[in-house]
Parts: sequence; C-alpha cells; structure tokens
Amino acid sequence: MDSAEIRRRWLDFFVKRGHAEIPSASLIAADPTLLLVNAGMVPFKPYFLGQETPPAPRATSVQKCVRTLDIDEVGKTTRHGSFFQMCGNFSFGDYFKEGAITYAWELMTNSVEEGGYGLDGDRFWPTVYLDDDEAYGIWHDKIGIPAERIQRLGMAENFWSMGVPGPCGPCSELNYDRGPEYGEAGGPAVNGERYLEIWNLVFMQYERGAGTGKADFPILGDLPSKNIDTGLGLERLATILQGVDNLYEIDTSRAIMDKAAQLTGVVYGKDHKSDVALRVITDHVRAATMLIGDGVVPGNEGRGYVLRRMMRRAIRNMRLLGAHHPTVHDLVASAVDAMGPQYPELVSDYKRIDAVAVGEEESFLQTLKTGTNIFDTAVSATKGEGRKQLAAADAFQLHDTFGFPIDLTLEMAAEQGLSVDEDGFRRLMSEQKARAKADAKAKKTGHSDLSAYRELYDASGAPEFTGYGETTSEGTVRGLLRGGSVASEAGAGEEIELVLDRTPFYAEGGGQLADHGLIRLGNGALVEVLDVQKPVGDLIVHRAVVRDGEVVIGQPAEAVVDVTRRHAISRAHTATHMVHRAFRQLLGETATQAGSENAPGRFRFDFAHPQAVPQSVLADAEQLVNAVLIDDLAVTAQVMSQPEAKSMGAMALFGEKYGDRVRVVSVGDWAHELCGGTHVPNTGRLGLVKLLHESSIGAGVRRVEALVGADAYGFLAREHVLLAQVSELVKARPDELPERIAGIVGKLRDAEKEIAALKAGQVLAVAGELAGNPLDVHGVAFVAHRAPDGTSADDLRKLAFDVRGRLGSRPAVVALAAAANGRPLVLVATNETAREHGLKAGALAKIAAQTLGGGGGGKDDVAQGGGTDVGALDAALEAVRLQVAAAGPA
Ligand code: ALA
Repeated sequence: MDSAEIRRRWLDFFVKRGHAEIPSASLIAADPTLLLVNAGMVPFKPYFLGQETPPAPRATSVQKCVRTLDIDEVGKTTRHGSFFQMCGNFSFGDYFKEGAITYAWELMTNSVEEGGYGLDGDRFWPTVYLDDDEAYGIWHDKIGIPAERIQRLGMAENFWSMGVPGPCGPCSELNYDRGPEYGEAGGPAVNGERYLEIWNLVFMQYERGAGTGKADFPILGDLPSKNIDTGLGLERLATILQGVDNLYEIDTSRAIMDKAAQLTGVVYGKDHKSDVALRVITDHVRAATMLIGDGVVPGNEGRGYVLRRMMRRAIRNMRLLGAHHPTVHDLVASAVDAMGPQYPELVSDYKRIDAVAVGEEESFLQTLKTGTNIFDTAVSATKGEGRKQLAAADAFQLHDTFGFPIDLTLEMAAEQGLSVDEDGFRRLMSEQKARAKADAKAKKTGHSDLSAYRELYDASGAPEFTGYGETTSEGTVRGLLRGGSVASEAGAGEEIELVLDRTPFYAEGGGQLADHGLIRLGNGALVEVLDVQKPVGDLIVHRAVVRDGEVVIGQPAEAVVDVTRRHAISRAHTATHMVHRAFRQLLGETATQAGSENAPGRFRFDFAHPQAVPQSVLADAEQLVNAVLIDDLAVTAQVMSQPEAKSMGAMALFGEKYGDRVRVVSVGDWAHELCGGTHVPNTGRLGLVKLLHESSIGAGVRRVEALVGADAYGFLAREHVLLAQVSELVKARPDELPERIAGIVGKLRDAEKEIAALKAGQVLAVAGELAGNPLDVHGVAFVAHRAPDGTSADDLRKLAFDVRGRLGSRPAVVALAAAANGRPLVLVATNETAREHGLKAGALAKIAAQTLGGGGGGKDDVAQGGGTDVGALDAALEAVRLQVAAAGPA
C-alpha cells in the first residue's frame, strides 16, 4: 500500500466516523513556544487548553512534522526520521479512552476491503501508563488482548506532553511485532526495534507547567475537558505495510535514496557505513525540501539553522560517498517527485524550492573550499603536538571566519579521530555575543550599563504611551539621567535622558524610527527631544538637550511631537505594510518580512526570497501599491487575541514574540499585520510610493528601498528633469534614448580600442631605434626611454622585452618611464648576463620608485615601480643609470 493510499484510508476512516478533516498546517508553527510543528496536535493546542472553541467536537488530520532532537540517530536506527507525517484523530471533550482504543483497533485490523489496514491483531502489543487500569481494562476486556501482551510503562514512555507547558496526559501505545528477525522477544518494554511503536493514543486531560525532561514538571491541574490526541507515524506504518526494513526504504523515500546511490555510484545494502550515509541523505533531503516548501530559508538561527544543518549534512555525506560535483538539484527533484502526489504545492513551487536549495549548496561548497584548508592545518598541528582535541580557538575561527557550523567541525574532527573543545567553543561564542550585545546597546542608548534605566523602570514602571491617539500630551517628569546616572535636575545646554509618566513620543522599534519634538515644563524649561528609545522593558526614554531653564523631577510637562516628521514616518510605515502585502501577492506567501526601517519619507523593507526580484515584478508591486493607495482605504488598528488575529490572516513577524493581546493594523480589508507602529488614517495620505531598487543583503534575503509622499514626488520630478537634459544632449526623444545611447557607447568603445591599438603600435615602433643606440655604462648596454603619456604598464612591458631581446647576450638593462592617468610609472628589465653581474630589475625599480616618491619591486628580470611625482620621471631614469654605473661589470 503506497503512502498516499495509507493517508487516504486514514482520513476516510475517521471522516466516516464523524470527524472533521483538517488540512495539514505549515511546518512553521504559529505557536511561539515551538520552532517547528512536531506533532499532529500542535494546531489544536488552544482547543485542548480551552482558549478557543474547536470547529467540531472531533477532527482528523495528517500533519507534516519535523523533529530534530534525534538527528544523530537518523540513519542508524530503522525508525527515526526528521521529517514525518503524523496521522491523528482528535476529540475535544467528546469520546475518550474507550472510543480512541476501539477506533484504533478497528482501523488497524479491519480488512483492506472494509477500509482498514488489514493487520494481524495477534501481532499488537499495547502499552498503558503504570496505573491506568481503565485503559488496561479496555484492551483486555473489550478488545480481548491477553494480559501477557499488555505492558505497563512509566512517565518516559507512557505519559505525553509537548515538552513545554501545555496539555498533557497518560497515553497508550500500539506496538507491532515485526518478528524474530528484528531481535529478542519480550515486548516493547525490552525491544523497540522489533516491537515497533506505530500509534500513540494520548488521553489529554491535564495541564503541565515548566520543567525538564519527560517526567520532571508539575501538573497544574485538569484541562477544561477530557480529550483525545492520537498520532500514528505514517512512515512507520508504511514500513510494515510495504514490507521493507526501515523508513528510508518506503515509497516516498526510496526514490531519493536511489537517486543518491546513482549520483555517487554507491550500491545500497552492501556496506553498513555507506548505508547509514545514504539514509541520512534521504532523510535530510526530504525534510529540507518540505521545510523550504513551507517557506523556511537557510540561516544561522532558529528554523533557518535547522534547515541549513540538514542540507549541509546531506551534502557532506554525498561528498563522503564520492560525489564531488553539485547534486542538490537532482536530489531535490527526486524528493519533489516522491512527495508531490501528496503535496501538490511542492510541484507548483518547484522552481523556488530548487533555487533556495541550490543556492545553499553553492554557498556551502564555497565555505568548504575556504575552510577545509584551515581545518586541515589545525588538524595536523593538533596531531603533530600529540593532542587528541581540536582547540576551542580553532573551532571558533572556523565558525567565525569561515562559517563552519560547530556540528560540521565536530563531524569532520571525528572523522580524523579528534574531539573538539566544545565547552571552550561555547565560551568564546557567548563572549562574542555579549560583546556584540553590549555594542548594540551602547550605540542605541549611549551607555552600556543599563542599571540606571532598570532603577527608573523598577521605581516608576512603564509610562503610558499616548501617541496612537494624540501628538501632544500632558504628563509629569518622573525620571532624569545625566551622563548615564540618575540626577534630580539639569540645566540649559546639558544632554539628558528624560522619563515622563505619559508621553506621545514613539520610541524606535518595530522598524519605525523615533519621534522628535519638544517638552515644555511647568517651570518654563524647554527640552528638545532628539531620540527616543526603550532600553529596558517598556520604559520610554527621551534623549534630549535642555534648551532653556532647569529640568526638575516632578515638574508637570507638555510633550509635543514634531508632527511633520511623525506624519512622514507614519506614511513610510503604512507603505511598508502595503509593499509587504504586494510582494506576498506577487511572489508567493513565503516572501515574508525579515526587517524594515521606516524613516521620514523613505523606507526599506527586507524580505525572504531566494533570488533577485525581476524588474517587472518590482514594477507590478509598485503599481499595485499605488492602485490601493488611490482607492483610499481606511487604515485602522484593533487590539485582539492572538487567535482572532490569526483568523483574520494577520501577518506576524518571524521569530518575534507577542503577548496574548496583539495590535493588528489593517489596510482596508487588503492587508492585516501585527504591529505596534503609527500609521496614516487613509492610504490616500501616502500621496505616492516609489520603489527605488532591490538588492541582496544575505542568503535568501532581499532589500527594497523606497520613497513615499513628497520625497517620492521629488525623486520623480528630478528624474524627469535629468531625462529632459539627456534628451537634449544626445538629440533624441526620451523613448529613443536607450537605443541612441547604446549606439553612442558602442561607437565610443570601438574608437577606444582603435586608439589603444594605434598607441601600442607607436610605443612599440621605437624598439628598433632604442636597441640600435644603447648607452654603454661600464660595459652594460643601457637603454632609458620616456614613452608618451598614457602608455599602459602592459605596453611598457612589451616594449622593454622587445628592446631587451634585440640587445643580444651582452649585459643589458632597459629602463622605461611613462605617466599614465597622472601617475608616474617606471619599468625595468634586465637580461641574464646583467643579472649575473648583480643587476637585478627589482632592486633597480625600487631605486627609481624612491625617486618618484613611492615604492616598487618585482622579480629579478622585470619589475616596476610607481610614486606620486610625475615631474621626477627623468630623474628616476637617471637614478637607474647611476646605479648601473655603480654596480656594472667594467
Ligand atoms: N501528540 C502525540 C505524539 O506526538 C500523539 O505522540
């Protein structure tokens, strides 16, 4: 039975039994506690916790999952895969233990004709949690499993949670006896390879708190209802139903493995070590393809790192098996072929997936090329000194300078029989991180010591931000810093940091730059605000200069934002949301924001995309944004729960943490985004949006820069004037300009070539004459010549060789000089007999160069020198002659 059929049967079985079929969610978890979806229940977590009402009391799904905890086990056992599909049935307060166990039994043992999987019931060994007599009773009395085939296990095996605070409960697992060829008897308690766990039924009824491991956490209490969460590993069931030995040999993996074998010429099943490598490649390529399909791009943190690590492990294993050319393109194609029937979006998105994967391979091969030499040197030094461990500094350098992830260094070192000082490496990494963090804070706040801010924050709490509704607010001075320390007053001319209890000033954040403006105190003091930051928590700190009077704690204050700047920034921020929406519409939903900066009248927007965005797409995006702008949609902000925001389709920033209540900014019904920034009330206020250019700022991340409002208009107006001037100059209408200018450039290039050829001819034409009249300097044939200005170093060299050749075998020195582009150049050539007499071109060129006020050198037979003083060229030639005279043979 192929995987697609296993999946179909699963869903049909549960849909027939009243379950709502829910499509797989993206691997990128909406849940902020998780990097990637790792179980079928993840999208349903809010229903179990009672935070949201489920769409139906029972549901079923086949969910894409990635688990990387066991990455080192991949390929070594027969049952660990980093990507897998979890088939699940779920009950939200509907049926419980008896329903779940009965369904599971029916589906497993019903005949294929009846819609089941037709497995032999005698091969099943259920397990239950230690004291779960209820589950035991159902298996034993209702299903009829003999007591010796039901085992009771503890927390580690038969109690399930997500590994983080959330729903949890005891579970019962279905294990299938694969037979004596897989090892000793005795049930799942003793042998997990033989008694393969295929299905876990979790009786989700408690909520757990924070803790570590599988057992060390508190149970906080009961969930609002008793629920069922089950998970069957589709790949494991396929292993059984397809009669193969392990997960890497089932239909959806085998094609990738065969491709890897074909590309490396290795035959699967001949040798354990290469089998493991082939399985690692198979698993990782499949997982990487699915991750890229869901929009993950390779990076150095979070999900991006998970993807990068798997791709790099796959590529390295391919190389270890003997593939020394790029192979990712072919491997990914086979993965898309294998998984496409279940996930059609992989096929339609193939081009992008291929581009991301191949791009990562290119960058990794480059990394390997440069880093491997350094690695080899470090290894031989280590071995040479009789050490068994690669030093932390080496691992750090490989990471820091050559981009070697530590896992790669560990693996490569292990292949050389060496360990790595990992603790030392981590220490160096955290030192570097701390340095970077301190630098960044210091840049923002002017102080690397945050204790003064923390003191203020602890004392007065977070100020109220009034800036969404007003730009002038009344408040009171609550805190004051001078030179980074708490102060009670400050006078005119002093730079201060000021905290109010209420303020309309927006602190830089979420890509939006800070407001500027004025603060007037009750005692008449005037303060100019130059920057606003949140150095700790939500503490809003105004960085300012006292213009007049004395600032005193406790004074009433009127804070007035510079509205011209604020409006220009708000225009940019709304425009950023619109451009984000437009790119996702045109490039696909994976073109998500990776950063932004909203400044007065201009913004830049960074987003995930594997290759350059074509000019035509930029033009389309700009047109779309301006069309929406003309529609004058209302821009509104609403505070709501995270799930409500999600159901509106609001975009959240990758990796960003949000509270329970989130603020959603909507541009009409067109774009919804989680955002704390300030915006215009209507899109018409933007006036005009102009995208300037697009560039790469790192692997898989692009940057667009753009102008808004008057700045956009000013730019277009200037361009228009420029175009008119160019039109006038070349005497062509604007629409004829490209052709006209291409013609002019072409002609110019031809003319330059012709001139260069003529010049070279002229330069070389004097060779015969020069060689016919050498100076005899103490028996050395010496030729000094000043070539015409503009002669290239290349032509000088050709002439020098020509003259030297003509001078025959007597000692000969040729010194040529020219000024090119206002810089002096001297070239000296000597022949073999001259060199035998100690006349070396390098030394002579150096003497000439010193005369020119510069340096030079080169080989013994030919060398050149330069400097700054064009007027000294003749003197430089003379200096060479004097040196020849001093050192010459006669
Ligand atoms: N959530 C359960 C698991 O992942 C079914 O094993």
